[in-house]
Amino acid sequence: MHLTSEEEKIFNGELGWAYHVSMRILVRLGELFGATELIPIQSAHISGVSYKTLGDAPIDFLEALVVAGGKVQVTSSVNPSSFDPEYLAKRFPQDYLKKQLRVIELYKKMGANPTLTCAPYYLGQPQPGCHLAWSESSAVIYANSVLGSWTNREGGPSALAAALVGRTPNYGIHRPENREANILIRVESLLRNETDFGALGIHVGKLLKNEIPVFKGLGNYTEADLKQLGAGLASSGMTTMFHYQETGKKGKLERVSVETNDIENTTKNLSTSSDSPEMIFIGCPHCSLREIQRVAQALRGKKVKKDTELWVCSSSHVRENAETCVNIIEGAGGHVLCNTCAIVTWIKKLGIDTIMTNSAKTAYYAPTLNEVNVALAPMTKCIEEACE
Ligand code: F3S
Repeated sequence: MHLTSEEEKIFNGELGWAYHVSMRILVRLGELFGATELIPIQSAHISGVSYKTLGDAPIDFLEALVVAGGKVQVTSSVNPSSFDPEYLAKRFPQDYLKKQLRVIELYKKMGANPTLTCAPYYLGQPQPGCHLAWSESSAVIYANSVLGSWTNREGGPSALAAALVGRTPNYGIHRPENREANILIRVESLLRNETDFGALGIHVGKLLKNEIPVFKGLGNYTEADLKQLGAGLASSGMTTMFHYQETGKKGKLERVSVETNDIENTTKNLSTSSDSPEMIFIGCPHCSLREIQRVAQALRGKKVKKDTELWVCSSSHVRENAETCVNIIEGAGGHVLCNTCAIVTWIKKLGIDTIMTNSAKTAYYAPTLNEVNVALAPMTKCIEEACE
């Protein structure tokens, strides 16, 4: 890889260990994927924040970076943690809380903004065409496909390294020729709600290898539907981008059709239980203001059942802007949680065995990552189930 003289200095450790080790991660990654240079990034989004998923070992590495004086060089946001500051913080051992707060503190010391959300684009949208180093798969695919920004699917360490150096290796989706669609997905089914979009994503994600799909026949969709489609694609596969308006490429593409029974079977397979759920979870990926408004509208005049938890997860930024809706949801007995979600916290330890969600991504991961059963249904159905 060609490095500029400034990058050489960092690589050789002249600016200290934190930057030296970060540069070595980036160069190694670039060499693995055939990059010949590093490019500047506008922002980084760093995963590896929840103490539940992180564990103890990486905390030492974060400590070492802080001790060595590592500071992020670009706007940097971080993924959700294992607690919200109020509701959950009281329900788990103090030791977990202490360790989680330590992790957040370390990121803060490096200059990252403790956004604690998987939807950083609701706090500030990156510009179309700018290069990023983001490491939350649902945010990566949303940024590339809906916002028109350019980011590979980074791991937590490479996103942090890119944040500290302010650069990323120029390969993969950073190169225009790799952003063109190379498979056409013809949707022959009417997609009725966000859950159908998510199920479509899970189904197609399993079929794709490294292809970038272009979808035809999506019908009417909202940005929230596209978010669910992307989150599904990135969960069951490694796809980092999809097209839904233009192919980005002239000429004939391989074609795959998706029929109604594909969507129905995927939804059925993701639903591992028909038992009454103890928890209803909306907000994977984290809710936008519009989505919180829709939940509040669906809850108006209703009461959440006494033995059921209703969680609506988002960032504190979105929550602050949704006061009236938060009052409606919490007045009905639900909880609008910030900084966390049902996947990155210990719901099993709360006595939850079955959850219902409108998110295909959660339905895909919860049985293995949280050891709970799942029912997948659209938000309106989830709210009906939650209420008396
Ligand atoms: Fe976000 Fe948790 Fe889903 S981090 S994408 S809400 S699994």
